[in-house]
Amino acid sequence: MARRFAGERLVVATHNPGKLAEIAELLRPFEIGVAGAGVLGLPEPEETGASFEANAELKARAAAQASGLPALADDSGLVVPALDGAPGIHSARWARAGRDFARAMAEVEARLAGKSDRRASFVACLTLAWPDGHVESFRGEARGHLVFPPRGTRGFGYDPIFVPEGGSETFGEMDPARKHAISHRADAFGKLAAACFVRETDT
Ligand code: IMP
Repeated sequence: MARRFAGERLVVATHNPGKLAEIAELLRPFEIGVAGAGVLGLPEPEETGASFEANAELKARAAAQASGLPALADDSGLVVPALDGAPGIHSARWARAGRDFARAMAEVEARLAGKSDRRASFVACLTLAWPDGHVESFRGEARGHLVFPPRGTRGFGYDPIFVPEGGSETFGEMDPARKHAISHRADAFGKLAAACFVRETDT
């Protein structure tokens, strides 16, 4: 059985204000106070892991050890089976230092030339780490397919080329509330909450 979170405050191990806001929103119903790793001045470890799980765990562990509080980290990306899973854990890096996602999406399109399999998934791994080294990790997925050229100006990253299963709009065109209800992060968070954020009144 997963270890339950019994405290009142945790660190969200990200220096990205957008991710911090999204995770704080997901935690709100559980009345858990949130501090960002950036605000606490915690270091940002290098993502040297070979999987989403390994990278989420190393970020969460580093923040829990440095702060003495339980810490939550996420690692996510776009997985394209016809590209052997790329860009995968390198999703942010494909946009290079300028965070140029038009370039990253063009790279995906170029590498898919001549391939008919357009399936893709967004994957997210959320890890909760305690200062004693214990971790709990949960993987979430949103399945769909890729379209070119990119469509829509909402969302971020690879959203304009991803159409979720059963839909016709890209994540970049979709109402953000709808995207957040079906996203890979929401899927992972639902599993984490069910296992670790069980409230006394729920048992
Ligand atoms: P991380 O910060 O190392 O986890 O990098 C995640 C990267 O994956 C982001 O920079 C995006 O490129 C991509 N990504 C993850 N989730 C999404 C999403 O919901 N929409 C679009 N791109 C995403």
